[in-house]
Amino acid sequence: MSLALSTNATISAASPAPALRIGLIGFGCVGQGLYAILQQVPGLGFEVGRIAVKSPDKPRSLPKEAFSFQADELLHDPALDVLVEVIDDAEEAFRLVSTALRQGRRVVTANKAMVAQHLPELVALQHEYGGTLLYEAAVCGSIPIIRTLDAYFGQEPLRSVSGIFNGSSNYVLTRMGQDGSEYAPALAEAQLKGFAETDPTLDMAAFDPRSKAIILAAHAYGVLLQPDQVLNLGIENVSATDIAYAAIANQKIKVVAGLYLLPDNQLTVLVTPQFVDQSSPLYAVDDEFNGVVIEAEFAGTQFLRGRGAGGHPTGSAVLADLAALRGNFHYAYPKLAAAQLGYTTDLEIEIYLRTDDELILDQLGFTDITEEADEDGYIVGFVPLDALLQHRDRLRQAGAFVARTGNVRPATQPADTLALAEVE
Ligand SMILES: NC(=O)c1ccc[n+]([C@@H]2O[C@H](COP(=O)([O-])OP(=O)(O)OC[C@H]3O[C@@H](n4cnc5c(N)ncnc54)[C@H](OP(=O)(O)O)[C@@H]3O)[C@@H](O)[C@H]2O)c1
Repeated sequence: MSLALSTNATISAASPAPALRIGLIGFGCVGQGLYAILQQVPGLGFEVGRIAVKSPDKPRSLPKEAFSFQADELLHDPALDVLVEVIDDAEEAFRLVSTALRQGRRVVTANKAMVAQHLPELVALQHEYGGTLLYEAAVCGSIPIIRTLDAYFGQEPLRSVSGIFNGSSNYVLTRMGQDGSEYAPALAEAQLKGFAETDPTLDMAAFDPRSKAIILAAHAYGVLLQPDQVLNLGIENVSATDIAYAAIANQKIKVVAGLYLLPDNQLTVLVTPQFVDQSSPLYAVDDEFNGVVIEAEFAGTQFLRGRGAGGHPTGSAVLADLAALRGNFHYAYPKLAAAQLGYTTDLEIEIYLRTDDELILDQLGFTDITEEADEDGYIVGFVPLDALLQHRDRLRQAGAFVARTGNVRPATQPADTLALAEVE
């Protein structure tokens, strides 16, 4: 086709590029979400070429002939331009994605646990074999946070990146705050409404937001972390008493994943319940929503809020990655290349701890106590972060609930208290 111009010149309009053929591995919540979007909006230039699932006998919305039951067949199909890996098995996901990257393929994944666990290898495989891996859907669903940090904020120092990265626990805390209910009925309601898994551990014990924080640490700060280096404390032991304690001070308890740049080019990452007051944009992020606050050195504060899960929101993030791949986008990991920051846990953080376990109190080694109420069983004060890391599992098993106030200080200089809360 050509367009005639008044100058008699002509421009040949490029014929539309052939649709990118997708090999879709996994047809659950996210896989079906992406499929539905592509059906609903034809003409996007993507077509699902093949779909792989696991169980041959499961009832499906498409005929059985539409499926392969061997994901490896898709890996070895040269007619597929891009692979979308959205299965629920992190180990198998890593095998599939790393094999595809060794073939120099273009791959999209939504698997945060897999990416967080294997990020150094996944970056190295891309360099070595020339493939590309994008994973926007792995962090906060539809919120475009990874590309924002990697591409837009790739050069600018960031004072902090913090947020609510898990919709299930946020839903439970919101219900407890609104109804005065206890944890168990609030969780049961979240499960009934499909906002929490049957096994809620990954979400409620904050393993899921920890994976997301680890992914963001690579893009926002160029720091590669192993999961065990990052403190994650969840809400399995939260009670209506704790929520009421926060409400008296006009605060809410939220599970905040925080990446904080400290003096001397040190980064620390904390994923724990935190008291949040109305000055924080996170205060109003309720129900199943996610929110991220970026504190950039020159741009100032930015806040993104959106749906962190669900077929359509997560499918939307996968679609954005597919479009980015078509434009030859890849993560530049610019701060990884600069590698200027260290990682520290040599800090004291101020916590609210409710427990009736005397041993835990001794083990944590409070260095300073700012408030104590024996009758309610809580204590507020500074403890070494390393002690919390060491006793994380015992805190959980002992039924203790911990929330941080937002204050931290270097372990060796008690006078220099920093208010992290101020930068959220
Ligand atoms: N759900 C969300 O809102 C959400 C949000 C962000 C990220 N994610 C991530 O996205 C991924 C998928 O989550 P989902 O909720 O869509 O999971 P899901 O609903 O449980 O679906 C998983 C799909 O993977 C298939 N599968 C499992 N093992 C397979 C294998 N070895 N080969 C081929 N197919 C296999 C299953 O097959 P069968 O159908 O035969 O069982 C199923 O279709 C996970 O990594 C999750 O963490 C999910």
